[in-house]
Amino acid sequence: MSTQIADDSAGGDSAGGDSAGGDSAGGGSAGGGSASGGSASGGSRVPQTDASVMDAATVGARQQLLSCLLQSPIPPGELIRNLGLYLLPMDVKRLLFFAELYQQIVSVPGVIMEFGTRWGQTMAILQSLRAILEPYHHRRLIIGFDTFTGFPEVAPEDGSAAAAQTGAYGVTAGYEHYLDNLLALRELQSPLPQVRKYRIIRGDAPAELQRYLAQHPETIVAMAYFDMDLYQPTVDCLRLIRDRLPQGAVVGFDELNHAAFPGETTAVREVLGLPHLRLRRSPWSADESYFVTERP
Ligand SMILES: C[S@@+](CC[C@H](N)C(=O)[O-])C[C@H]1O[C@@H](n2cnc3c(N)ncnc32)[C@H](O)[C@@H]1O
Repeated sequence: MSTQIADDSAGGDSAGGDSAGGDSAGGGSAGGGSASGGSASGGSRVPQTDASVMDAATVGARQQLLSCLLQSPIPPGELIRNLGLYLLPMDVKRLLFFAELYQQIVSVPGVIMEFGTRWGQTMAILQSLRAILEPYHHRRLIIGFDTFTGFPEVAPEDGSAAAAQTGAYGVTAGYEHYLDNLLALRELQSPLPQVRKYRIIRGDAPAELQRYLAQHPETIVAMAYFDMDLYQPTVDCLRLIRDRLPQGAVVGFDELNHAAFPGETTAVREVLGLPHLRLRRSPWSADESYFVTERP
């Protein structure tokens, strides 16, 4: 299950090597997905996995806002510019959190890697931040890793929460192609549209990361964001990138100190050791955390 959706054989600095339109080998167009994420082009449904780790009040608020969005009287041409109407604080804080992280790597060379991309929202947020904060940084690749079929397997370290099961957080069939087209479209609206500055890498993240680093030995990681939720791939990917992080690099985590997904914390304890880390919590968020690498 290994596919590099966007072939990067031309290298990260190729101004003309890739079509910014992206390939859509069998996938839908960027406009062809379902707003709710409930149905794929092939008609498959994905379980509402997020709902199993949210409290009932949040799930209820989300459903009401979704109804308002789906019945919005705002004309389609203006809807996207008014999406803030439908965002909850937990959505807005994520934008602010990533802005805090991104601001800290502007002077650090290297790529951004996200482990656990799922629908790809974080990649899109990072694309926007790159366009705002360093519009002419043509080497700042954003690389997303995901199986696009959900959790491949779950270890005993991952606990017994309902969401900790094989296949959880899957997406609709062929979604990676939809995401590829969408990110390509977004880059077309941004500075340096002729340079494709993202990669979507499908497959088991540790195996794919190892392959990527072998193919790109020059890789320095300026920011790594861990959102696979699980013990084993987090351990493996942390080990693989550890010596790719220069001082000043930012390493973020979605599920540290998270009762439903204890495996991520265990992975960090084992590979990095909590007492060695100056872990930070952003004032924007109670959930995500990060550290900036420092000389030991
Ligand atoms: C909580 S979701 C990620 C959410 C996403 N970062 C966001 O901002 O919306 C967790 C993702 O990790 C992925 N994942 C878990 N283990 C993986 C592995 N070994 N290799 C690749 N992806 C994995 C799952 O497929 C799932 O899409």
